[in-house]
Amino acid sequence: MAPRSPITPTDRALRAVLRQGYPDNFTDRAKAIFASAFLTVHSVRVRKRSLKWNYTFGLGLITLYLFVLYLVSGVLLMFNYIPSVDKAYASMLALQTDVAFGALIINLHTWSGHGLVLFAFLHMLRVFYTGAYRKPRRGNWVIGMVMLMVTLLMVFTGYVLPWDQNAYWAVAVGAEVLAQGPIFGEHIRTLIIGGNEVGQATLTRFYVLHFVVTPGLLLVLTGMHLWRVRRDGGLASGPDDLELPSTKARF
Ligand code: HEM
Repeated sequence: MAPRSPITPTDRALRAVLRQGYPDNFTDRAKAIFASAFLTVHSVRVRKRSLKWNYTFGLGLITLYLFVLYLVSGVLLMFNYIPSVDKAYASMLALQTDVAFGALIINLHTWSGHGLVLFAFLHMLRVFYTGAYRKPRRGNWVIGMVMLMVTLLMVFTGYVLPWDQNAYWAVAVGAEVLAQGPIFGEHIRTLIIGGNEVGQATLTRFYVLHFVVTPGLLLVLTGMHLWRVRRDGGLASGPDDLELPSTKARF
């Protein structure tokens, strides 16, 4: 009788996560990926060309990591920020001077926000120039567009929160510009600033938009975006494999 191979701690850990042994063949790898919520964003097979660093330049992933950094630093800022017109600016100053690593957290948040916009845009250019916006990835291109709009809204609403002169005048001037629009101009202005004058209602609106609505939307859209990358047959690897006959994507 052949000796039974001992189960190593690594095997046990893998079984706990994957509910099966180490997947060393194609079928087991596919099963492991379909069965795990964590692995499910990975394709079972990938095209060699799409793995080359100079195909994606890692731009989508860099954008994703910046988003995570933006979220984590934002949550840390929430512990000290006070969304009140009298206290917001003072709470930001206190964060820089009285709170350990406060200035570092503010800077991480500011720069990851700037980076997010820049890299989302560069990623969009990469997708455009490799032609990956075409069928069957059209739906994901549209999702990406919406993500870019929501990202811009998230970063702009954050700009207002320190409630300094820059913030106040950015909202005041922006609202007046919107008010000049036809028919609904005045209504849109009132809706955005929460009344006739820029004040506490405005700050509360921007606070909720920045901390809850836009990041929540982006989290959901990011999940859909990554799921679509896989559903559309993994990354496109060039014009020759853009129209995959096997993909069932409807738009
Ligand atoms: C805003 C944050 C965004 C994040 C976090 C994000 C993340 C990603 C990631 C990680 C990938 C796979 C790896 C890669 O291609 O580098 C990807 C692919 C893709 N993204 Fe984005 N993306 C974002 C914005 C956008 C935008 C603005 C567009 C276009 C308007 C877009 C369209 C696409 C498309 C079409 C693919 C599939 C590309 C292919 O198959 O070659 N994404 N995205």
